Amino acid sequence: MVCIRGVATSVPFNWTLFHPLRPRRSRSGCPFCTLLSVWQIDFMMSDVLCIGATGMLAGCVRALIARGDRIDCIARTLVGLEELKQTISTSDRTRLCTHSCDYRDLEKFEETLSSLSFQPSAAICWVHSPAEQVLDRIRHRFPDIDLLQVVGSSARLVGVCSTPANRIVRLGYGLAGDQSRWLTHDEISRGVYDAFVSGDMFSQVGTIKTL
Ligand SMILES: NC(=O)c1ccc[n+]([C@@H]2O[C@H](COP(=O)([O-])OP(=O)(O)OC[C@H]3O[C@@H](n4cnc5c(N)ncnc54)[C@H](OP(=O)(O)O)[C@@H]3O)[C@@H](O)[C@H]2O)c1
Repeated sequence: MVCIRGVATSVPFNWTLFHPLRPRRSRSGCPFCTLLSVWQIDFMMSDVLCIGATGMLAGCVRALIARGDRIDCIARTLVGLEELKQTISTSDRTRLCTHSCDYRDLEKFEETLSSLSFQPSAAICWVHSPAEQVLDRIRHRFPDIDLLQVVGSSARLVGVCSTPANRIVRLGYGLAGDQSRWLTHDEISRGVYDAFVSGDMFSQVGTIKTL
């Protein structure tokens, strides 16, 4: 009964369930709970290409790795990529492959896409505007990819991307009393993770309306 409830309550995604700090084994010690959560993790596992994810989206990368995904991460600076690696446990680190590349250099970007450690089934892309050329290259190389584009609150959603099949998660603001504030990196990472696993075509993190 406990096991069945465990599955039922976990299917709508619960961030804390896959938080990198959460112990992997069932707290109750029930072997079936442990087996079921492994089954759930396998079911949800993906090979994910993450672009621009060494900053505010680093927590999102950690959460994906914690649930068993393999990640290819692209950013420019080796230091940033290395710092992200260091935040991941040694045993999980083999599932993170990093690539130093400026996505504005489209030729180098193409080369990097062809050198990924796996064929990604999904992508999370935080690409500063204009993003179309970068996203089009990804879509062209991996036509069936589940591509989630992260956009800022000021992005115009009409024509935000030339490929309508892409999913969008829009960053908004947090609210502190009657004031708006920037979202924290943790809020952004959680929101983008939730958007990714939800499968929704459009998601929003925080509120868009400014006060
Ligand atoms: N509410 C909103 O609308 C909104 C939207 C955006 C940001 N923000 C706020 O602004 C803050 C910082 O934003 P940020 O854009 O600096 O995000 P960030 O996630 O902290 O950094 C940008 C990411 O993109 C990579 N990157 C940038 N240019 C690149 C290029 N040409 N080629 C490859 N990778 C590239 C960076 O790595 P490298 O530098 O190593 O390349 C890094 O991984 C956030 O803390 C957030 O709170 C708010």
